[in-house]
Amino acid sequence: MQTESKRLLEDFEEFLHKNLPQIDSFHPHYNKALSDMFHAGGKRFRPQLLLEVVSAYEPLLIPAAFHVAMAIEMLHTYSLIHDDLPTFDDASLRRGHPTLHVTYDQVTATLVGDALNSHSFYMIADAPLGSDQKIALIKELALNGGAEGMVLGQAIDCFFENRPLSLDELSFLHINKTAKLIAASMKMGAIIVDLHEQKQQLLYDIGLKIGLLFQIQDDIIDATMSPEEAGKPTQNDAAKNSFTNLLGIDGAKKEKEKLIAEIETKLYDLEDRLRKRLQHLIEYYLK
Ligand code: IPE
Ligand code: IPE
Ligand code: MG
Ligand code: MG
Ligand code: MG
Repeated sequence: MQTESKRLLEDFEEFLHKNLPQIDSFHPHYNKALSDMFHAGGKRFRPQLLLEVVSAYEPLLIPAAFHVAMAIEMLHTYSLIHDDLPTFDDASLRRGHPTLHVTYDQVTATLVGDALNSHSFYMIADAPLGSDQKIALIKELALNGGAEGMVLGQAIDCFFENRPLSLDELSFLHINKTAKLIAASMKMGAIIVDLHEQKQQLLYDIGLKIGLLFQIQDDIIDATMSPEEAGKPTQNDAAKNSFTNLLGIDGAKKEKEKLIAEIETKLYDLEDRLRKRLQHLIEYYLK
């Protein structure tokens, strides 16, 4: 990873750990459970996308952007905690650590997810940014991370287990469950630095493609990696609609290459400095 991007991520990590919720009560493990999955690790891909956009246009806004990047990571982490519950994917490992319902119980895992979901919106409301901007950011996160995005995707993913979808339907599923939050991360960076609407939309559209690529890669990880390498159970998608199940591993890899080529072309609509940052991230995380 580029030195500047690495530094950005390290600074973000420090901010995140300093700003984890600290809730005082006589519950024996509630407060710890809220933070466990952040300490466990994670690539912080979505925060990084947002921060790269902000850094390319207005580095002075990075400290304010940390609040928003953390909000996105919090909502994403909630989605993973719920995704791992027995009623969803029934996974006992996440980010190389036992999942919350294994360490504690299902009630704790469900409630930690709920708390992180609402706290993510608190984090944006509390950020040192203008009110209009914060409303725009909250709308973006609510739509893409909620009813019109991630939650819809998860609903389709779970409902259609063992019922094969067409390739178009599978793309719709992946775009909602994963790509929209990734696209929103880029657009939310654009909102923070006040880019005009057309540019916001361009970043969102590129983000959708990056997000679809990200989920195809995730499907390939399930089919090809060990749990140790992935930090989560693998070979776990047998009943799922995934790119590898529909197209085979080679087919999924071809789809990935096709998308990478499309993204590379689209990136040339951006200023050099942002294009280069995004090219490096794709190289680092997705090739
Ligand atoms: C996993 O997300 C779930 C998907 C949407 C593919 P990540 O691969 O970003 O998981 P972490 O945050 O690095 O653990
Ligand atoms: C989950 O997709 C995407 C979310 C919105 C949480 P997966 O179920 O494929 O994610 P992993 O493989 O468990 O990380
Ligand atoms: Mg799932
Ligand atoms: Mg899962
Ligand atoms: Mg997966």
